[in-house]
Amino acid sequence: MVIAPAYPWQQAIFTTAIEFDAEPLSLLQGAIPAGLQGTFYRNGPGRLHRGSQRVGHWFDGDGAILAVHFQDGTAQGLLRYVQTKGYQAEERAGRYLFPNYGMTTPGLLWERLFGKNVKNCANTSILPLSDRLLALWEGGAPHQLDRQSLHTLGLDTLGNLTPTTPYSAHPKRDPKTGEIYNFGVSLGRNATLHLYRSAPNGTIKKRVDVLLEGLPLIHDFVMAGRYLVFLIPPVRLNILPLMFNLKSYSEALEWQPDLGTQILIIDRENLEIIQRGEAPAWFQWHFANGCLIDEKFIRLQLVRYADFSTNEYLREVSTGHPLTEAPGHLWELEFNLQTGELNKETQLTERNCEFPVVPDAHLGQSWRYTYCSMKRVGASLLTEIDSVIGCYDQSNQTWQEFDCGEGYYCMEPVHISYADGDYLISLIFNSIQAQSELWIFPAAQFTDGPCCQLRLPHIVPFGFHGKWANF
Ligand SMILES: [Fe+2]
Repeated sequence: MVIAPAYPWQQAIFTTAIEFDAEPLSLLQGAIPAGLQGTFYRNGPGRLHRGSQRVGHWFDGDGAILAVHFQDGTAQGLLRYVQTKGYQAEERAGRYLFPNYGMTTPGLLWERLFGKNVKNCANTSILPLSDRLLALWEGGAPHQLDRQSLHTLGLDTLGNLTPTTPYSAHPKRDPKTGEIYNFGVSLGRNATLHLYRSAPNGTIKKRVDVLLEGLPLIHDFVMAGRYLVFLIPPVRLNILPLMFNLKSYSEALEWQPDLGTQILIIDRENLEIIQRGEAPAWFQWHFANGCLIDEKFIRLQLVRYADFSTNEYLREVSTGHPLTEAPGHLWELEFNLQTGELNKETQLTERNCEFPVVPDAHLGQSWRYTYCSMKRVGASLLTEIDSVIGCYDQSNQTWQEFDCGEGYYCMEPVHISYADGDYLISLIFNSIQAQSELWIFPAAQFTDGPCCQLRLPHIVPFGFHGKWANF
């Protein structure tokens, strides 16, 4: 299906990812930083239609992994779809078969009423481990991939999960111990929050299940010192229309601001809840980081939305024609550890932004720089997407930014730290040449622009999250 792009960025959404084997990336400008060894991995929906069928939501696309291996001054890129069972069945059928986040079971009413299991899309994020790569999706277990070739090796139960036990897409790795913390939310009459503490190799060493009230949507959490913090937004699933396939999961999510935001503070050693609190209603997908202040407060940053309209905006992005304005801004919050109460809240910018990241070495600890992608000053929230890389400096409460230029669009900036320096790397869509590029910036001078620009052999559609692996 060919859709004529009305906005330059639409091609980076509509294009179906083409798999390619490892091949050298051509250098457009600058030079690969000397001594850079490691791999940039990135995950996102690779296709948003099959024939005349379209996905219901951007979150429904099949996961396609981009890997760019850097070694001895060269960069080799490859891209592969995660070979989930659902993807393989739909490839064979040439049509969508399964319900998903924004899709009911395709087909006639009787097929919908007796709908099939949801497809694990494996499309949200990536977790590099020393011997394998995990493609993450928050509705089920991760898929295991070969780190070099990206061949899918099957579902990975991490020694504890069943194939349908959720393992979310935003795990946190303790920079000192290498331990990995994560969660998943299972549906039932009420939701169950699974809390996981894992060894550096991914094996789950401890799991605690917590019963929640209702069926909330939780996408991310915070590691702050020796605590994990969940801010449960007032979004609840109305399960009846979902059970009968009359509505998709996304359509069955309801914004219930009267519930407010529920705070859970968890001791990360034993995974027990040590404090609960409440705060006004807002919604967040992503946190930047958190830390403990004077053993009394937990400070965290997040991209905060006034309500859940961001979900509709993200659905509309997959159509190429957003109609719902859903501004998100970076905020800093402080919670009282003893009472769970919101002690302080500060909006850090008026600018629309997303994908906040901090250097991995500072996860759970005090930090200085928060990087994110942003819209250009004055850019329409509907007809433009992110084209600016921004950085908030906590030490002096100032912002710095780099505008990628008219016709260029950026994604989440991923932080690279290695022996010779710190860098940022971002997938860029160059709409002027209709090509995808990888731009590398020296983190300390990113406002001067990229020190290296590489061209990818095909357009890589925009997606969600990436990670750098030094090994
Ligand atoms: Fe995310």
